Amino acid sequence: MADRSKTSTEPAAPGAEGAPAGAPLHVAIVMDGNGRWAHKRGLPRTLGHRAGVEALRRIVEAAPGLGIRWLTVFGFSTENWSRPAAEVAELMALPKRYFKADLKRLEREGVRVRALGRRDGLSQDLVALLEEAEHRTAGNDRFFLQIAFNYGGQADIADAARRLAQEVAAGRLEPSAIDERVFSQTLSTAGLPPPDLIIRPSGEQRLSNFLLWEAAYAELVFQDVLWPDYDSGCLSEAIRTFRARDRRFGGVVSDDVLVAG
Ligand code: IPE
Ligand code: MG
Repeated sequence: MADRSKTSTEPAAPGAEGAPAGAPLHVAIVMDGNGRWAHKRGLPRTLGHRAGVEALRRIVEAAPGLGIRWLTVFGFSTENWSRPAAEVAELMALPKRYFKADLKRLEREGVRVRALGRRDGLSQDLVALLEEAEHRTAGNDRFFLQIAFNYGGQADIADAARRLAQEVAAGRLEPSAIDERVFSQTLSTAGLPPPDLIIRPSGEQRLSNFLLWEAAYAELVFQDVLWPDYDSGCLSEAIRTFRARDRRFGGVVSDDVLVAG
């Protein structure tokens, strides 16, 4: 089946009570700056990555209270394989480090987990762990956490194109039926609305192959803090910046319509 949306359910619960109006419902974060955080302290990069897991814990805990319903984080990109083998091994161990301590709590607190990205190339243990997290939280709908791991936006688009081509070749899909909606439903993010806000800490100002298709109308916020130092105050500040933005989605603001009309 090319349409993957049927396997996904959006959380039905409304945003957190008391959340400011106009808060972003779907926030995506490039968790960046672990290495520099460690370097500044004279520590090995490994410890920066471990501190980054603590930051993820803090943010998953804080997000629902700030009105966020869907959170997507970038944990490992298809390009991160080019790092030294020891660092790759440490990064591969991070999901275990996170879920081992937190899966029970996520399950209990109504968080649904989904891993984005290619499973090929990951160890069997890791694939089993990601599947266990997805499986055990499949019935949850209070909050949705997507972890992009061995993920690349271009790879995800290529994989979707291949799946659609296979459907066409098998005679199950007309090429003329392929449009933006069908394509969105074939990506690994199918079933979730696109991110309203993409945050990148650590001072870098690029997407680095994160959510390329989905980012079409996302607001981008760059912050100077390094990921292991990221906390709910940083997230609140990013949300304040987001709320001050004027989102037009290619249209015009209503005042302009009146003037023009
Ligand atoms: C983010 O921190 C972790 C991953 C990319 C997996 P980095 O390791 O990129 O940290 P910097 O950019 O070197 O500081
Ligand atoms: Mg980096």
